[in-house]
Amino acid sequence: MTSSAPIEISGQESPQHKSLLERLVAARHSLSGRVMSLTLLVVLLAEVFIYVPSIANYRLMWLEQRLASAQIAVLALEEAPEGMVSEDLTDELLRNANVFSVALRSATFGDDLYLSKDMPPEPVVWEDLRSLSVPGSIVNAFETLFRGKGRNMGVRGAAKFRPGSTVEIVIDETPLCAAMIDYSWNILRLSLVIGLATALFVYFSLMRLTIRPIERITRSMERFRQHPDDSRYIIEASDRSDEVGRTERGLYEMQCDLQAALHQRARLAELGTAVSKINHDLRNILTSAQLVSDQLARIDDPKVRRLGPKLFSAIDRAVDLCTDTLKYGRAAEASPHISKVALHVLVDDVQTLLGLEDHKDITFVNAVDETTSVDADQDQLYRILMNLVRNAVQALTIAAVEGRRSEIRVIASETGAMSAIDICDNGPGVPETIRGDLFKPFSTSATPGGTGLGLAIARELTEAHGGTLELVSSGGEGSCFRICLPTARAVKRAHVEP
Ligand SMILES: Nc1ncnc2c1ncn2[C@@H]1O[C@H](COP(=O)(O)OP(=O)(O)OP(=O)(O)O)[C@@H](O)[C@H]1O
Ligand SMILES: [Mg+2]
Repeated sequence: MTSSAPIEISGQESPQHKSLLERLVAARHSLSGRVMSLTLLVVLLAEVFIYVPSIANYRLMWLEQRLASAQIAVLALEEAPEGMVSEDLTDELLRNANVFSVALRSATFGDDLYLSKDMPPEPVVWEDLRSLSVPGSIVNAFETLFRGKGRNMGVRGAAKFRPGSTVEIVIDETPLCAAMIDYSWNILRLSLVIGLATALFVYFSLMRLTIRPIERITRSMERFRQHPDDSRYIIEASDRSDEVGRTERGLYEMQCDLQAALHQRARLAELGTAVSKINHDLRNILTSAQLVSDQLARIDDPKVRRLGPKLFSAIDRAVDLCTDTLKYGRAAEASPHISKVALHVLVDDVQTLLGLEDHKDITFVNAVDETTSVDADQDQLYRILMNLVRNAVQALTIAAVEGRRSEIRVIASETGAMSAIDICDNGPGVPETIRGDLFKPFSTSATPGGTGLGLAIARELTEAHGGTLELVSSGGEGSCFRICLPTARAVKRAHVEP
């Protein structure tokens, strides 16, 4: 891995010369912008919930204050001789109390006090503060707000200075309405200021704490995807202990692992090329050795005759190994050309080529129905079957189970979207020690002369068809490998419904 300094993946990457308006428009669609609008909305909603009862309360207090001043004005009558005051004083008292008239109705008959101009206006609505419910006060508050202008209103309430008595006043509702409108504007202004301040605070906090780091993570992922082999694009993880910090550290580790894997892969690819070259030359040398050994075979020496075959077969095996390794090292297999393959005929071909038609020890059963066809690349399916059947033959030849005639059976079935082909034998089963790595190249060969590539190639070819190759059973009763291939119908459906 290179040790050059990491490139700073900072928030400055975004276009820098955007105007404030452009930034605001862009922020509207961003996560932080949405959070800001939502905060503003929530704060304004909260303010509405506070405003509604508070405006009702404001009106109530205003009316109670007016009642109290009117009551003080009417009490002046008590001190006056015969409960009467001059017209000028009446005017003065009413003006100070800001009411048209005031009446103090006593619990005892005949003690009522009344202060009024000659012709007090008739109230359009009456408000009784003694029996006002909370919802009622809210409804009446909005009525004053929208209809109170220019209206006269009667207000009734309990007398403060005379328990058990009632005060009644008639007032002009206009000043109350104006005071309430002023109050509402003040609340609205305050709400907007609080709402905006909260929203901005939330926006900048989120920006700093979450959005910027997430943008940095996203940018790092995008750049790393474009240059996975450049260690400068690996994110620099911060030491934050929250989710963002954990994500950064997780991403950092993942990028390091991925890069290490990529480098290892590149090294393996280089190694593979080198091995292929060596293999190629080795095979040429061995081929020359084969030619020389052919001449050796003609020498009429008993020792040469005895040791010769062993040498020839060793050279043959070495040539085969080189050829197989070279084949495997070649570029990926061509993609399959799918067509309808008559499976019974194909299995017959495999049987013939492997000399299993009249084999003295092995019975080969082609149990595939003559009408069965599968959707596959004919040549590739042939190679898959050859590998599997040859393996079965080898297993049966090396260790036939005593008292049981060796048998290989090929069966086909179709289940929904898949065609299944089973290749079963009644041999000794796959040794348990190699089952885990059975389909890995080179690692599992337990057959003398085998390269351990057959099953790896067979699986690669099957998977290129979109299918699977598995060992479905293995043990004392024998082994059974299953090839599953998607039917053309299923492939078509998968393309239509991704
Ligand atoms: N039907 C089977 N019964 C028992 N063992 C099997 C069977 N098929 C495969 N094996 C085991 O799995 C191993 C791997 O098989 P694979 O075909 O990959 O390699 P190979 O046969 O050894 O070499 P080659 O590359 O020449 O095919 C075999 O060596 C054998 O031990
Ligand atoms: Mg094999």
